[in-house]
Amino acid sequence: MGSPWQRLCTLGTVLLCIVRGDVLPEGINRRPIIGILAQTSHMKDLGKYYIAASYVKYLESAGARVVPIRILLPGGGVDLQTSKYSHVARLFYDKAKQAFKREDYFAIWGTCLGFEELTVLTSGKLLLTQTNTSGIALPLNFTKAINESRMFQNFPKDLLEALATEPITSNFHTWSLSLKTFMENKELSEFYKVLSTNTYKGIEFVSTMEAKDYPIYGVQWHPEKNAFEWKNLKGLVHLPVGIKMSFYLADFFVNEARKSHHRFASKEEEEKALIYNYNPVFTGNFSSFQQCYFFD
Ligand SMILES: *[C@@H]1O[C@H](CO)[C@@H](O)[C@H](O)[C@H]1NC(C)=O
Ligand SMILES: *[C@@H]1O[C@H](CO)[C@@H](O)[C@H](O)[C@H]1NC(C)=O
Ligand SMILES: *[C@@H]1O[C@H](CO)[C@@H](O)[C@H](O)[C@H]1NC(C)=O
Ligand SMILES: *[C@@H]1O[C@H](CO)[C@@H](O)[C@H](O)[C@H]1NC(C)=O
Repeated sequence: MGSPWQRLCTLGTVLLCIVRGDVLPEGINRRPIIGILAQTSHMKDLGKYYIAASYVKYLESAGARVVPIRILLPGGGVDLQTSKYSHVARLFYDKAKQAFKREDYFAIWGTCLGFEELTVLTSGKLLLTQTNTSGIALPLNFTKAINESRMFQNFPKDLLEALATEPITSNFHTWSLSLKTFMENKELSEFYKVLSTNTYKGIEFVSTMEAKDYPIYGVQWHPEKNAFEWKNLKGLVHLPVGIKMSFYLADFFVNEARKSHHRFASKEEEEKALIYNYNPVFTGNFSSFQQCYFFD
């Protein structure tokens, strides 16, 4: 069964961004650090919270370092609107928006559960529809907005074509945001541009979106899995073109992080926070993740 979180998105998390200096003259941060929000662990004897190592490797592959963001209070009955996870996510979401208004770039990315959390943060409501889209690889149905999107602006043409025609995006979610709900909700449709949808069992749902006026991004699918998750699961694809797609998306977000000039107060504080203080554990023999980091 698991918590409501796990039911909403079987294999997801939200990525958030806090970054430290060494800024180049053109304003590019050469030493980006990205925070990943930990989730309450169902592998309890290994730690109270976990982060799947695939998210860490994904960001590291494109030149970022990672800091785990632990939720300091115990989980319990987690919920998209009232859990500690959602409180921490709201904190970063609000800060990112306020920062951007001050021309202070602070990007946020939501993958799967993180995508679902973004829809709650923006609309103030839980608006998801059950689609049972778990363990399915799909191509993306791009909307017209793709051509002026930030997320795909530097994608090679052949990769975009592959994304549109080959089933290389991994879906592991039971619930989705239907396009109809999106269009009917003013908060969502004014805030985000839908970049792709998918149709499953007659329900068209939003699979990729980016905020119109903020560096906030959401994918209902999992770009990090292609290269880093190896469980023999339906819906996981390791085609070379899928790995390349994964890298280009990681590269996009790390470049967003390079625009941020947030920094830790000291080198010591930074070193203490980095994920290098933790060792990933092999979990591939009992969970769907190959490796996870655990925290108390
Ligand atoms: C999803 O699965 C649930 C439980 O098995 C079922 O009641 C529901 O009709 C399914 N929905 C879709 C869209 O397949
Ligand atoms: C985006 O632009 C390209 C080239 O101009 C065009 O071929 C393609 O159909 C456009 N895509 C969408 C989804 O409108
Ligand atoms: C793309 O959209 C078409 C038309 O709505 C639909 O029939 C098809 O199933 C969609 N493809 C995917 C992969 O979602
Ligand atoms: C999984 O593998 C680890 C390390 O090899 C081992 O310690 C653990 O007992 C195994 N767990 C299960 C459930 O088989």
